[in-house]
Amino acid sequence: MLPTPDTDHIDPNTTYSPAEDSYLVLDTLTSDAGFLHSHFAPPSSPPLILELGTGSGIISAFISTNTTALFGRADVHLLGTDANSIACAATAQTLSLTPAPSHFLGALVADLAAPLRDHVVDMLVFNPPYVPTPELPSLRAEHGATEFEEESRLLALTYAGGEDGMEVTRRVLMGLGSVLSQRGVAYILLCRSNRPGEVVEGLRGQGWRCEKAGGSGRRGGIERLEIWRIWR
Ligand SMILES: C[S@@+](CC[C@H](N)C(=O)[O-])C[C@H]1O[C@@H](n2cnc3c(N)ncnc32)[C@H](O)[C@@H]1O
Repeated sequence: MLPTPDTDHIDPNTTYSPAEDSYLVLDTLTSDAGFLHSHFAPPSSPPLILELGTGSGIISAFISTNTTALFGRADVHLLGTDANSIACAATAQTLSLTPAPSHFLGALVADLAAPLRDHVVDMLVFNPPYVPTPELPSLRAEHGATEFEEESRLLALTYAGGEDGMEVTRRVLMGLGSVLSQRGVAYILLCRSNRPGEVVEGLRGQGWRCEKAGGSGRRGGIERLEIWRIWR
């Protein structure tokens, strides 16, 4: 079993505490190492990995510290983004506490992959806000908000996915063709309310290859959380 990064230092009032979904991403990447080894086999150029919504940084730190086990190479570049600046600081701290053989470029306060040039990301990982909600929180602090209101907004950013819980994830999927490089691959978590069957059918219809790489929380024979590998 690969070591899990320590995130005890994070403040759960302002940053997402690692939960079942976070650990499912770690397990899925571990079990998909065979694919990653052959997909990014040297002597190809070092892959650039982007984690969207880093939160505590547990996933980025896990990737960073286990690059050789996951990719069969240590020359991996890693970048994160989160709309929550406190989460970005927590990510940087988690990475600083992690013995990291890969090059961590930083965690940017940003909306999804907005700061990046097109076609530079070789692997994208996203554990999104996926719970169906009537609306999405603002990406920025409201002027004059109380501490309680600001913490409520940051909490909502971690889970509120709007219609079908898909409003944030849908934006990522619609931008995949621009964000990913030719060899790019995405790992995206979907929950049952996101209608993963329809989502995957739509992606396949656009020419993407999709394979379920991980799943958890079986209820009545149906998996509650699924992680899909999406690539060209
Ligand atoms: C379910 S949490 C996942 C956190 C962490 N990756 C993990 O697995 O434990 C979702 C994260 O996405 C971030 N987020 C929500 N909307 C975002 C957006 N539009 N752009 C960037 N990050 C966003 C939240 O702030 C939160 O940190």
